[in-house]
Amino acid sequence: MQVRVRVPAKVNLHLAVGPLRRDGYHELVTVFHAVDLYDELVAAPAERIELAITGDGAGEVPADEHNLAWRAATLLAARTGAPPKVRLEIAKAIPVAGGMAGGSADAAAALVACDRLWRTGLSRTALSELAAELGSDVPFALLGGTAVGTGRGERLIRVKTNAILHWVFALAEQGISTPAAYRELDHLGGGSTTAPDALLEALHHGDIKLIAARLYNDLQAAALSLTPELQRTLDAGRELGALGGVVSGSGPTCAFIAASRDEAARLAAALAAERVCRATRVAAGPVPGALAR
Ligand code: C5P
Repeated sequence: MQVRVRVPAKVNLHLAVGPLRRDGYHELVTVFHAVDLYDELVAAPAERIELAITGDGAGEVPADEHNLAWRAATLLAARTGAPPKVRLEIAKAIPVAGGMAGGSADAAAALVACDRLWRTGLSRTALSELAAELGSDVPFALLGGTAVGTGRGERLIRVKTNAILHWVFALAEQGISTPAAYRELDHLGGGSTTAPDALLEALHHGDIKLIAARLYNDLQAAALSLTPELQRTLDAGRELGALGGVVSGSGPTCAFIAASRDEAARLAAALAAERVCRATRVAAGPVPGALAR
């Protein structure tokens, strides 16, 4: 028996980074959005925990107990009493250190896969609590869709929207580590507590132009400070006809909303021709979170 799980990348439509808390995290108000750019994880019986990683950026990801998917399997076993025996194979398509929560996605996929393989039968709520222990973005990778996140990002409320968003992601040469982006923002004087009210209204009405105009990310300033070339990428996207653009999460991936699937394909080709990024990806959202298939 083996279990195959597909798990989406995320982009933050809104990311207001509030004050640094005593536990080292920042208080967030964010709007997560899952897109159809997936990592795939296959879990199969083994004598111990084993991990193999293939795909885009696989060489930059630890394939040992430091990997968040490995830690997810260990945590689930410890909490349920299941023997920690599984072979995990991850095929990466979500850019590594790209601000799209690829590591968190793999952890969510490992929770879902091991829960199924080991027949531990945890509820989605119980899985979500384990997810929050593993990382701030892991609960959203389980949930998917579009959701407001508060706390460190782990407290989630679903947002209903009819809008289908067509995205172009411009991938950068070098990744940015999430803690480095938050530290840089603190150096720059910190973020804001800006509420996403106008964005939520635009999502409610399914108004894609307004959604695109209201993309907001406090960490963008930090990403630009660490990787100034991103300004060219953001400018190019807007000049080439994106409805809106923003750095994704802690960066360096730049995310653009296009008017349609065809427009997204055209924009991706134009960005590639301008040589303002390493590669482009076209995607759409929202899509569900980690699912066994
Ligand atoms: O929760 P996660 O392990 O993904 O977070 C990685 C790092 O990002 C944290 O160690 C912290 O430096 C930073 N972070 C933060 N505030 C948050 C989420 C993450 O400062 N709300």
